[in-house]
Amino acid sequence: MAKFETKAIHTGLAHREKTGSVIPPIYATSTFEYGNKEGFDYTRSGNPCFRNLENTLASLEDASHATVFSSGVAAITAVVSSLKSGDLILAEENIYGCTFRLFEQVLKKYGIEIVYADLSKKENYSLVVDKKPQIVWIESPTNPLLKLIDIKALAEVCRTEKTDLVVDNTFASPYLQKPLELGATLSLSSTTKYINGHSDCLGGVVCTNDNEWSDKLEFAVKALGLNPSPFDAWLVARGAKTLSLRMDKHSSNALALAEHLKELKSVQWVRYPFLSDDPQHELAKSQMSAGSGLIVCSFDLSKDETLKRLQSLKYFTLAESLGGVESLVCHPATMTHASVPKKTREAVGITDSVVRFSVGVEAAEDLISDLSEVF
Ligand SMILES: Cc1ncc(COP(=O)(O)O)c(C=O)c1O
Repeated sequence: MAKFETKAIHTGLAHREKTGSVIPPIYATSTFEYGNKEGFDYTRSGNPCFRNLENTLASLEDASHATVFSSGVAAITAVVSSLKSGDLILAEENIYGCTFRLFEQVLKKYGIEIVYADLSKKENYSLVVDKKPQIVWIESPTNPLLKLIDIKALAEVCRTEKTDLVVDNTFASPYLQKPLELGATLSLSSTTKYINGHSDCLGGVVCTNDNEWSDKLEFAVKALGLNPSPFDAWLVARGAKTLSLRMDKHSSNALALAEHLKELKSVQWVRYPFLSDDPQHELAKSQMSAGSGLIVCSFDLSKDETLKRLQSLKYFTLAESLGGVESLVCHPATMTHASVPKKTREAVGITDSVVRFSVGVEAAEDLISDLSEVF
């Protein structure tokens, strides 16, 4: 079978036989002539740009199915829309703020219960047995604290208990980690981030080897209107071709920056799972091939001073999001996790001194000297 880098470039080319064009066209159409050979009818329920992208992303995760969405949150919405009143989600306590908001402010209205726990601790796996959740929801690495969950070990417990394990793989990307191979039922990504990689559109994907789940996800796209635009799907497909190249550079840059941050006086602690002294380094090596571009650290400065200094960085833009070629920095408490109540946020460790770096693919020396001038 072809390797990751080759599949990223040579799948999703269904258009080529008909026209010879090396790059697929953007099928900017809302509807299709009735009875066409490919079975398309209306873009909410399918478009050649989605199909190309789905073929590529499924091949990158070695999955039998991939379904694409208008955003990562749309992908999450599709998964949880399969639940019904009285169902339960067991979720890792540190998840993306908008996933938490969706769970707390939308799902709870419909009678779905959510229990949060630190799933990096194996003693909490007993909750899968005791609570019998329909879904176990994790991110690994988590946003923003970069905690790792042992996907293989948790997947084994979920399989025994007949619970579906959903892994939000956004922070790793399928190049660095393959949740389905580790036993997860669904591998979900915000393609807005590393897979597209150029911060110019939003998208989401869920990959699975489970036929029933694939049907449910396809149904959710059309029933809830969660489809991307053909142009956005085309952009994500273009970005995916260079995923491996970008990830190698994100990883080496982030490791160099994490080492540098450790030496700064104003830094209290640094978390990057591929630092050799990281408490989860062994687990990191067992389930990821490298760290991504994300680093989290804590500064011994006031919140205002931290924000002021972050804004004065030359090559890091203070902005939400991650995974693009350009470096970004984010203050989770006021940005990505602002929708999580302060008490809940601080209880899991997202205090005002926490800062998340999304290290881009610029020259590492330039990024390091930028940080050195400001901190
Ligand atoms: C881990 C994680 N999952 C999902 C999402 C949501 O993705 P989107 O912004 O594409 O809706 C994000 C966004 O930052 C994220 O960090």
